Amino acid sequence: MKGSNKVKCVVTGAAGFIGSHLCERLLAEGHQVTGIDAFTVAYARWRKERNLKFLKTLPGFRLIEGDINQLNLGEVLGGQEVVFHLAAQAGVRTSWGENFKLYTNNNVMSTQRLLEAAKEVGISRFIFASSSSLYGDTDDLPAREDSVLRPVSPYGVTKAAGESLTYLYHRNFRLPTVALRFFTVYGPRQRPDMAFYRFIQKGFAGQEIQIYGNGEQSRDFTYVSDIVQANLAALTVEAAGQTYNVGGGARVTVNQVLELLEKIMGVTLKVRYTEGKKGDVRHTQASMDRAEKDLNYSPQVTLEQGLAAEVEWMKELHQEEAAADKDTDMSDY
Ligand code: NAD
Ligand code: UGA
Repeated sequence: MKGSNKVKCVVTGAAGFIGSHLCERLLAEGHQVTGIDAFTVAYARWRKERNLKFLKTLPGFRLIEGDINQLNLGEVLGGQEVVFHLAAQAGVRTSWGENFKLYTNNNVMSTQRLLEAAKEVGISRFIFASSSSLYGDTDDLPAREDSVLRPVSPYGVTKAAGESLTYLYHRNFRLPTVALRFFTVYGPRQRPDMAFYRFIQKGFAGQEIQIYGNGEQSRDFTYVSDIVQANLAALTVEAAGQTYNVGGGARVTVNQVLELLEKIMGVTLKVRYTEGKKGDVRHTQASMDRAEKDLNYSPQVTLEQGLAAEVEWMKELHQEEAAADKDTDMSDY
């Protein structure tokens, strides 16, 4: 999409962690935003309502509550120019067994349905939230976009299917798609099943943190505003049909995160090492050459800054929850 000025965007998963940040930034840039969210039960509704609180005060934002698998998408996408598709069932470790149905419905079926509608109405840019989990357990790091894809979780398989679908709608129908492979995202509003949320929450409560494995697994943790920046750049990049890694710029072990958190929070964390979880990859690291070149992307927030921001947000959340008598100790999955 060339030289986009102000555009009409649809953001799926608008009430979620990353989606709500993206909507706020799009509106700040003067775009119009229609958010879609089904408030799936993956985690509590009140958290998503909280994510939407500021958004709902902004002119230019409207929310459609509904499931992509059920909405009349022709109607919803009619007159719109851009789709940011972030809605998904997102946890890695809980995608086994019966749960797989949730993942195929929310990550594959919904993506196909949205792509069909986008093709029909002539959407001029379709940006897909893909995932580092597509790479699986590779030793060939940093992973490049053309590295072999061998996901090791059912979640990763469904995200790979979603990404492949976006590519084939580009290939067959010239739908201008862009896939962004996000690497473990963190920051305020992080999902309550994710590592940093849990570590900080347990740290404040003086409770034991469980580490899956020996803590020497590593991630290219990426701060949420950097992910949002890459999404904005994907609006105008010329190379439709392309895929980009979006990482944080450093590979850090879980044990190193714990050390840093102790420093930031000023506490000694209680840690118990348990068995590793099936579906978890050992290490991730993004090659960012392509994103740097085409998207002019470079991560701006260091892990120390980003973790401090998440800790501050968690403090606010705790105060509010204490006042409202809400349950903070959520292990939603
Ligand atoms: P999230 O769970 O906070 O947000 C996803 C939102 O999508 C939820 O609010 C949920 O209600 C909604 N949703 C799910 N299925 C839906 C459907 N069928 N119809 C309408 N709404 C539906 O997750 P997140 O962490 O913000 O992740 C956003 C996207 O980024 C996902 O596609 C995820 O796979 C991808 N991703 C996330 C990370 C990360 O570290 N958080 C990393 C890589 C990729
Ligand atoms: C994250 C997101 O949750 C996925 O939605 C996303 O697709 C994926 O990143 C990605 O990059 O594509 P993950 O890397 O597992 O998945 O993120 P965290 O939940 O933050 O876990 C990071 C590490 O901490 C993992 O090795 C995990 O096993 C470990 N962990 C997590 C623990 O040791 N204990 C916990 O309580 C939680």
